[in-house]
Amino acid sequence: MIPTSDVGKRAYDLDRAYVFHSWSAQAALDPMVIAGGSGTRVWDHDGNEYLDFSSQLVNVNIGHQHSAVRDAIKAQADVLTTVAPAHANLARGEAARRILDRAGEGFSKVFFTNGGADANENAIRMARLYTGRDKVLSMYRSYHGNTGAAVVATGDWRRVPNEYARGHVHFFGPFSYRSEFWSDSPQQESERALHHLRRVIQSEGAASIAAILIETIPGTAGVLVPPPGYLAGVRALADEFGIVLIFDEVMAGFGRTGDWFAFQSLPDSSGEITVPDLITFAKGVNSGYVPVGGVIISPAIAAAFDETVFPGGLTYSGHPLAMASIVGALDAMESEGIVANAKRVGADVIGPGLRALQAKHPSIIGEVRGLGVFWALDLVADSETREPVSPSVIGALKKTLLSLGLLPFFADNRLHVVPPCVVTDDEVARALDLYDQAFSSL
Ligand SMILES: Cc1ncc(COP(=O)(O)O)c(C=O)c1O
Repeated sequence: MIPTSDVGKRAYDLDRAYVFHSWSAQAALDPMVIAGGSGTRVWDHDGNEYLDFSSQLVNVNIGHQHSAVRDAIKAQADVLTTVAPAHANLARGEAARRILDRAGEGFSKVFFTNGGADANENAIRMARLYTGRDKVLSMYRSYHGNTGAAVVATGDWRRVPNEYARGHVHFFGPFSYRSEFWSDSPQQESERALHHLRRVIQSEGAASIAAILIETIPGTAGVLVPPPGYLAGVRALADEFGIVLIFDEVMAGFGRTGDWFAFQSLPDSSGEITVPDLITFAKGVNSGYVPVGGVIISPAIAAAFDETVFPGGLTYSGHPLAMASIVGALDAMESEGIVANAKRVGADVIGPGLRALQAKHPSIIGEVRGLGVFWALDLVADSETREPVSPSVIGALKKTLLSLGLLPFFADNRLHVVPPCVVTDDEVARALDLYDQAFSSL
């Protein structure tokens, strides 16, 4: 995607000469230059505009360049641009209070980090110190970040070259479409996945397990919405064996599912929600305008550090520009009904639209799953065997969608449909039309 304008070329050339990129062999990279954005759109320096149905890395929940967040950062910059974590600061307290208000009953403190990985790192540390135990159980189909323990808690391929932290054990979570448990209903999948988890806990020795760390809805692994009863079953196992339950809501939290947190979107049949002991967050809390993340802590775990030192900290824990951006983002999301928009648009427009797309392209769209603005299409080469499509098909779809003016999000054999929470019905209709054109062009 070599730009044509001088400024675009300069941005591209500087990147290729000097920037070392994440998760990539560097030589063959051909990055797209993004110059600006607004709401659900981004553009390059050459006048090409794209509908951003990636939300970048599924983090721009409030949309690009929201004035409330920009203004909050600017106002804070005029007052105080940095402050040590040991001091109290108004923006930090206001941010923590707003996060706790949204998390609801069961939480009393927030520890701020620089992003999602170190949020998980510190949640794991809290669980280990609180229980005096060592092991952390997490799913094979998961991503928890790129630091020492977080990347080893990760289930996907990114763990393998980084496997230096000890005490990590993996298990299979539920995934009805590609079941590890030979199940033929979501209920059976839930029961069998819980039985498997119980057996892993027993086999590892329950008294050695500090935490079960799960993405409430595994995101990068394919928007794997857990079947009814699963989260409550994991909570019950954690309670039975004295294990701390951590929900990683880095991708799923702050509006993506149509609620403030994904666990609030998944009540059981009697309307009860499953509440963890620790929640990790980042991304949507301020839509990534300034790097930030954190851990939301239950009163019992917070109290364990009332008289005992918590041996962890970061120079930028609760950085004022990040804190101001959280206050700006959360207030605007509430007053403008942005989370409610994600819920409505998911239920009324995206879900029905993607199912209609599947009905039109049944040989390639194997399954549609998701909620809110958090969806995935599982793309198959054979709808009977469910064999995933080849990388070349994904490459072709990506190229076509970009040429049509849509910035997509692909992971393995899946197209993730993850626009900002502010997306309009018309923008969804346009995206559905472009997806349809891309599938038709194969
Ligand atoms: C569920 C989940 N946890 C943790 C992380 C890591 O967050 P960060 O990249 O901010 O460290 C991510 C990033 O994509 C994620 O999706």
